[in-house]
Amino acid sequence: TFKAIILVGGPSRGTRFRPLSLDCPKTLFPVAGHPVIWHHLEALSRVDGLREVLLIGFFEASVFESFLFDATREFGDKFHIRYLREYRALGTAGGIYHFRDEIQKGDPQHLFVLNADVACSFPLNEMMSFHTTHRGLCTILGTKVLPEDAHRFGCLVAKPGSNEVLHYVEKPESFISDLISCGIYLFDVAIFNTMKEATQNKASQIALDPYTDSDDKLQLEQDLLRSLAEAHKLYVFETKDFWRQIKTPSSAVPANALYLEQYAQTFPERLAKSEPGGPQIVGAVYIHPTAIVDPRAKIGPNVTIGPRVVISKGVRIKDSIILDNVEIKNFACILHSIIGWDSKIGNWTRIEGTPVINHQTIITHNGVKIQSIAILSKDVTVKDEVVIRNCTVLPHKELKSSFHNEILM
Ligand code: GDD
Ligand code: GTP
Repeated sequence: TFKAIILVGGPSRGTRFRPLSLDCPKTLFPVAGHPVIWHHLEALSRVDGLREVLLIGFFEASVFESFLFDATREFGDKFHIRYLREYRALGTAGGIYHFRDEIQKGDPQHLFVLNADVACSFPLNEMMSFHTTHRGLCTILGTKVLPEDAHRFGCLVAKPGSNEVLHYVEKPESFISDLISCGIYLFDVAIFNTMKEATQNKASQIALDPYTDSDDKLQLEQDLLRSLAEAHKLYVFETKDFWRQIKTPSSAVPANALYLEQYAQTFPERLAKSEPGGPQIVGAVYIHPTAIVDPRAKIGPNVTIGPRVVISKGVRIKDSIILDNVEIKNFACILHSIIGWDSKIGNWTRIEGTPVINHQTIITHNGVKIQSIAILSKDVTVKDEVVIRNCTVLPHKELKSSFHNEILM
């Protein structure tokens, strides 16, 4: 049997997800109609022998209350789901070590650890089969990225054939490898011994050199994976399937597209279809059952329409996420955008962003906002016949004229 941990982080983190995270932590932001970590749970529900999923983070417990309620209703017959709160940010391995007794209750043999801020096909069963073929303590999920993007991730050099990880370097300054860590791991429980050693090493280092710049957080990447690689105990399973980080609101749009395209393959019944008397649907589109879409609208591809949204005639939406209770009036056009909760888009108005390329995560470059997804936060009203292009709009704004390439506060 095994357990799974989702590292959900906490409020001081995810600053890059502003302004949308002001109203919702990024791990609960909806992509393809469900919170980011719902997709983790769905993937975990396809693995046999999973007893419990623990969300570990340093948010207040109330943040996850309604999510846990919904998740238990959906997945409760497969596994228990609980939130364990760190009293402060303990690092990516610190929380796992702190709650080691809780985690080891019920005597699980293996432990999946999943970063919350990723979108992935989660080939967990494949990782599991691969894990049983080697003698390591950890299988890490890897993927290839463009060489110029690799430095923003944990980089792996693997031995051809066996896939043993020879070197692990977290966010290296110079190029080491285009094979990177997806932030998805499978551990043997014996990893707690390694964690104990790592914790002791860390404490004695700090005692020897009180001015060291390493803090007392225990980091999975720097404090564990490196030494596991040195001890020949780390292996990589490379996925050719989709994987993306979700750091910025913009990255929610490609993540949304990837999950919707996956639904088209695995759960086509979840997606909207063009039907007589209904709107014209192009490609993968998810429409919440409580949304009202005029039959003269044209939607898709890669669009999610949230609960209680109202879309009028002649509206065109492409590559966008429309959040709860948004109203979009006649002939408005929305491309490459996120429209925040309770916003209102006027007649003939156009909201347009620029598609995100590859693993782009920055919002500004040399102080200038780079072209990206257009983002309207909660409760933004855009009047009729206005064009908003490549803008990020903070909550509770009313826009009466057109804007380009700006952050509107
Ligand atoms: N519980 C807890 N406590 N969770 C944390 C903490 C903490 O103190 N700090 C970070 N996390 C969670 C975050 O919410 C996220 O899910 C995950 O741990 C990793 O976040 P970061 O520490 O911000 O690292 P990163 O995302 O820049 O890089 C990591 O993920 C990449 C893949 O997405 C590294 O593991 C890289 O090596 C990896 O390539
Ligand atoms: P179609 O031409 O409709 O098949 O869409 P497409 O998949 O080729 O998309 P394209 O990138 O050409 O542009 C998106 C669609 O939005 C186009 O069909 C445009 O006619 C339509 N469009 C552009 N601006 C507006 C607008 O201001 N209002 C409305 N209602 N539609 C618009």
